[in-house]
Amino acid sequence: QFHEKPKKVSFTSDGPFGKFDNQQLQRGFQVYKEVCAACHGIRLVAFRNLAELGYTEDEVKAIAANWVIETPTIDPDTGEASTRPSIPADKFPEPFANDVAAAAANNNAIPPDLSLMTKARVGGAPYVYSLLTGYSDPPAELPEANRPGTGLHYNAYFANLNIAMAPPITGDDQVTYSDGTKATVSQMAEDVSAFLIWTAEPSLVKQKQTGWAVLAFLLIATILAFLSYKTIWADVK
Ligand code: HEM
Repeated sequence: QFHEKPKKVSFTSDGPFGKFDNQQLQRGFQVYKEVCAACHGIRLVAFRNLAELGYTEDEVKAIAANWVIETPTIDPDTGEASTRPSIPADKFPEPFANDVAAAAANNNAIPPDLSLMTKARVGGAPYVYSLLTGYSDPPAELPEANRPGTGLHYNAYFANLNIAMAPPITGDDQVTYSDGTKATVSQMAEDVSAFLIWTAEPSLVKQKQTGWAVLAFLLIATILAFLSYKTIWADVK
């Protein structure tokens, strides 16, 4: 009874006429890059996909170059995998070498990949928004057994109430938006949630628009069929 349903929050991509707001997606990517990427990958997204958010080819190249990626070749001097800067065709590299390293760095919890997160959890993007803004002190009447143990944080939106992720968005102006938007906690949470809708369903808007075109075609085809039926049977009484 302590668990809360996701907060009501709407996104520009909602509804049959929904559209992505590229400004917002770019802000959300900035939050991902500066805050979440330290622990969470988006392994299904390639750098060149960012062009869909309105970044130019040069900007995409520059963004990619900031991420170092491991190559399959071994550096003969160090005996370790050699690395190179990413190029637009690469997918986003994982933040940790493997699950063991990820768990070791995070109190034994593995930060899940975020590419499909808004599809993977009941509640979708509003759930992600609620989780990010939903940390609080445990309520006084919470039974001892449900209280957060060491390294855990109370969050009424998380399935078992105690999450191993420390609050990632902690205060206003944690990032500095270049479009002048005030970076409040809820603004950053909303922007990164919108970005994660896009990573999970980049063709969402195109599908809706195709749907309307299909409906328009079917409507016209139906009218034509009806009119030709009328014409063909016009002489028959
Ligand atoms: C889990 C989002 C930053 C560490 C999660 C989950 C989401 C999420 C949606 C899954 C919750 C679930 O299973 O239902 C984000 C976003 C971030 C962010 C959007 C940036 C704004 C971070 C950072 C760290 C981190 C910086 C590490 C310092 C973890 C860990 C888990 C987790 C360890 C697993 C928690 C558990 O299963 O108890 N995060 N995260 N996250 N995150 Fe983050």
